[in-house]
Amino acid sequence: MTVNPDQRIAVVTGSSSGIGYATSLMLARNGFYTYASVRNSNKSASLQSTADAEKLSLKLIQLDVTDDKSVNDAIEKIVSEKGRIDVLVNNAGYGLFGAFEDLSLDDIKAQFETNFFGVIRVTQHVIPVMRTQPNGRSGSSIIVNVASINGRIAFPILSAYSATKFAIEGLSESIAYELDPFGIKVILIEPGPIRSNFMKGSLLPSRALDSKSPYSELAHKFYDKTNSQHDDAIPPEEVAKIILKAVSIEKPEFRYVVGNYAASLLETRNNMPYSEFQKMIMQNIMQ
Ligand SMILES: NC(=O)c1ccc[n+]([C@@H]2O[C@H](COP(=O)([O-])OP(=O)(O)OC[C@H]3O[C@@H](n4cnc5c(N)ncnc54)[C@H](OP(=O)(O)O)[C@@H]3O)[C@@H](O)[C@H]2O)c1
Repeated sequence: MTVNPDQRIAVVTGSSSGIGYATSLMLARNGFYTYASVRNSNKSASLQSTADAEKLSLKLIQLDVTDDKSVNDAIEKIVSEKGRIDVLVNNAGYGLFGAFEDLSLDDIKAQFETNFFGVIRVTQHVIPVMRTQPNGRSGSSIIVNVASINGRIAFPILSAYSATKFAIEGLSESIAYELDPFGIKVILIEPGPIRSNFMKGSLLPSRALDSKSPYSELAHKFYDKTNSQHDDAIPPEEVAKIILKAVSIEKPEFRYVVGNYAASLLETRNNMPYSEFQKMIMQNIMQ
């Protein structure tokens, strides 16, 4: 076992692209020994070559958040190599578009399996490690859950996705109390639109855009609008910077809203009657 007591050990899920990719690099470039986990090892070449070129303390590891064995093997490997985990970034996830009536129960279960139970699976493996390890140089350990502005404000056509992110909010609020006495912090990252592979990786069941669907016009308009919003969105490095800051300071906030869009939408929602807000959102989508 190689242990450098001065180096904090981080694990990031979903590091093949977007926020996970940027966060793994950001942490490694700033002194964390980073396990950048990917579900498909074929997608690790770019991250590996950047890490090699910059001589970063970054190691690629296979981890599919929906697979018990994969999660177990990955966490066991990290603990056997480094003896501890100081930072867990639960980032892996994807979007599921479609009006609720057009989604099958299987579509929704699969969405929860990755976005919500994936977080649960990894976190339940990591908590006992964090809880029983001696405090590191920088004090306590931290679990960073990448939720979304969609976990605070729900839009049409994203019911299942929003439900997973609202669920992460509730889970995080609750376990933060339980883990605090053990020196383990739990925080939430709530990005607005980020320019990543998110739209490409999102699922859009064919029923959802079928002209026979009573929701077809709404689904088309919302999907197109979301797509163009993501083209113009801020880069994933903006999220990575916030995560780096949160895991580097002694007293991080519990919630970090990322991006002006998300911040101003929340402010608008909080400062107007909810019925007016709903009207405004619907008008904005349909115009
Ligand atoms: N982009 C946004 O606008 C936005 C806004 C708010 C929140 N978020 C959240 O941010 C997180 C990262 O998304 P992103 O924007 O960076 O999108 P992305 O570029 O598509 O990255 C998603 C990552 O999750 C991985 N992943 C998906 N299913 C997985 C599984 N079963 N096991 C392990 N990894 C899995 C993907 O791996 P593969 O390459 O193998 O598919 C990919 O590495 C997600 O939780 C998303 O909900 C995104």
